[in-house]
Amino acid sequence: MKIISVVGARPNFMKVAPFISEINRYNLESLKTNREQIKHILVHTGQHYDDLMSKKFFDDLEIPEADINLGIGSGSHAEQVGNSMIELEKVFEKEKPDWVIIYGDVNATLAASVTAKKLHIKVCHIEAGLRSGDLKMPEEINRLVTDRLSDLLLTPDLLSVENLKKEGIPDSSIRFVGNIMIDTLENNRAKSDRLDIKQIVKSNMISNVKEVNIKENNYAVITLHRPSNVDDKEILTSLVSFISTEVSEVLPVIWTIHPRTEKQLKLFNLWEKIILVPDIFLVNPLGYHDMLKLNMHAKIMLTDSGGLQEECTVLGTPCLTMRWNTERPVTLREYGGASVLVGNNIDRIRKEFFNTLKESRKPERPALWDGKTAVRCLEEILKYC
Ligand code: UD1
Repeated sequence: MKIISVVGARPNFMKVAPFISEINRYNLESLKTNREQIKHILVHTGQHYDDLMSKKFFDDLEIPEADINLGIGSGSHAEQVGNSMIELEKVFEKEKPDWVIIYGDVNATLAASVTAKKLHIKVCHIEAGLRSGDLKMPEEINRLVTDRLSDLLLTPDLLSVENLKKEGIPDSSIRFVGNIMIDTLENNRAKSDRLDIKQIVKSNMISNVKEVNIKENNYAVITLHRPSNVDDKEILTSLVSFISTEVSEVLPVIWTIHPRTEKQLKLFNLWEKIILVPDIFLVNPLGYHDMLKLNMHAKIMLTDSGGLQEECTVLGTPCLTMRWNTERPVTLREYGGASVLVGNNIDRIRKEFFNTLKESRKPERPALWDGKTAVRCLEEILKYC
């Protein structure tokens, strides 16, 4: 059997890592039993191209270098998807895989599903069925199109199974396998825990002149990158003002800066202002282990990332999700998770921030978030006929 996995952006890398390990394990066993090996080809579209957004994750998670890098780089959504499709078509036609495997909801996911389906190649979507209901999010469009086209839809939770059924996807195409990101978390937890928080901040800090006075369980971590939070001047200005005058008054803040956010902070003349606040530590995008360590010991997380919402649930880190909706309701407090939706309204963020500071860490494990999802993914692919 020949399988091509297509990845493109940071949140794909922690999903492909356990799947590749599982194929390697399967192939090693096959050697002993004379079973047919799986040939796996890893294609990176190159949407995320900075070392810090891509190579660092491949190194940290021991993902083998991509067999093919399409070098697509940045651009508008149409450019990223269109250029990826043109290049993927050549790869799929040459390699003629039995399966194309796609992960999550990034532009590479959409490009690969449409291209493979038009060539009549079977498509398997890992992390199928998530829905925010918000068609203004580029990721929601990617999810809808990808799931409509996929032959095998592997879901992280039971709410996603319900979403797919409501859209008329037949039961025979849907399998509940659990959350593959949690395989990566469990595989890397021990290594991360050996790291030193101060050292992580010092070695990744953007402005290196501040005294790093940070203690375990007594800091906030912030990540922001969604266009809805960082592309609007008024919204980003109010968030920066809240973080610098209110959050950093009560806790030191470690803010990992996504390239889009850095660009926007500079464009709106907020960069120089925030860099001077004594208790805000701006750091470059962190590697997987560094980020996991910070999450394990944060007093609170403020984020608009879906993946961090999930990791906070398993680690029990109280989390304010700076969005108005989520495709991952299983991570919300009302479903037993650690996160609360606060959008980008400062009054609401303030209220939940001070309430949440009183909360303690409550780790929670939704069904099948057990670190063994990759095994189930491969089993389902092999069983599918
Ligand atoms: C993408 C994903 C999003 C995911 C996020 C995590 C889509 C539609 N969105 O959004 O689901 O949560 O990644 O990181 O695929 N840039 C760099 N260096 C890089 C990559 C990007 O400087 O290595 C710059 C680009 O020039 C661009 C901006 O960052 O201006 C945003 O990058 P883009 O690839 O458009 O999407 P993300 O916002 O990262």
